[in-house]
Amino acid sequence: MTNLLSMKDLSKEEILYLLERAEAFRQGDQLPIGGTVVNLFFEPSTRTKMSFEMAERKLGLTVLPFETGFSSVLKGETLYDTVKTLEAIGVDAVVIRHEQEAYYKELEALNIAIINGGDGSGQHPTQSLLDLYTIQEEFGTFNGLHVTIAGDIAHSRVARSNAEALQKLGAEVTFICPDEWKGEFPSSQHLDEVISTTDVLMLLRVQHERHHTDSWFSKESYHEQYGLTIQRERLMKNRAIIMHPAPVNRGVEIADELVEAPRSRIFKQMENGVYMRMAALEYALKGSRVWQF
Ligand code: CP
Repeated sequence: MTNLLSMKDLSKEEILYLLERAEAFRQGDQLPIGGTVVNLFFEPSTRTKMSFEMAERKLGLTVLPFETGFSSVLKGETLYDTVKTLEAIGVDAVVIRHEQEAYYKELEALNIAIINGGDGSGQHPTQSLLDLYTIQEEFGTFNGLHVTIAGDIAHSRVARSNAEALQKLGAEVTFICPDEWKGEFPSSQHLDEVISTTDVLMLLRVQHERHHTDSWFSKESYHEQYGLTIQRERLMKNRAIIMHPAPVNRGVEIADELVEAPRSRIFKQMENGVYMRMAALEYALKGSRVWQF
């Protein structure tokens, strides 16, 4: 069994292997993998939770339902004791989303595979992998692509996961955000300076739930300064694509009309997420054959 915790842990070869496996699953690969899985979501989710459940059913895995709100978590049971309990009853892998960054460090000694479904503002490896799969499907390569990541970067586990992986694969990454949200990234505030040279515009959600002070901007002013407006979209390269991990604040990061525009891959990302999560589950339960090469 193998953990999938952070994009930092994956080599370029392992990333490419996982993308290859996602494509094989799309093509109907039916390699049987047995196992019992539990999805533990301590933070809200629609896409990640539902696409993992879809992936688990497509793989024929046994999925035990777990609702944190009806579990002994409400009696104060710790994450460690919860996962230790699942290990004791014979669960093979858990998908965990948790608000605590690097929550998985306290679970390292357990004999159960852990797939990180998002840890606070830390990492979201399966989102990053499905984003990479979507980019590869579109362009066939990462080398020389200009990817612009724009939005609430400091609070974004998606930005953190994608930045390093994209650079590892040969893409050039630019960050655009208000100074208040740049975190550890070298960023600019001017989307207009890069919009016409960008191949992939990856927009990020404004994460109000992680802000500890009142918003210093209105929806309209954020959209005008940092969002993909209809005017900016017209400046994009012919083949450039729009991505967003979603959920989308329509009219804030992106104009409502552009969410389903021809160059938007937002719903394609969700479709790809199912195949990518099949690959992630296979990796966690069976390991990666990349090491045999
Ligand atoms: N992109 C993403 O992680 O969406 P959910 O929060 O709905 O899972």
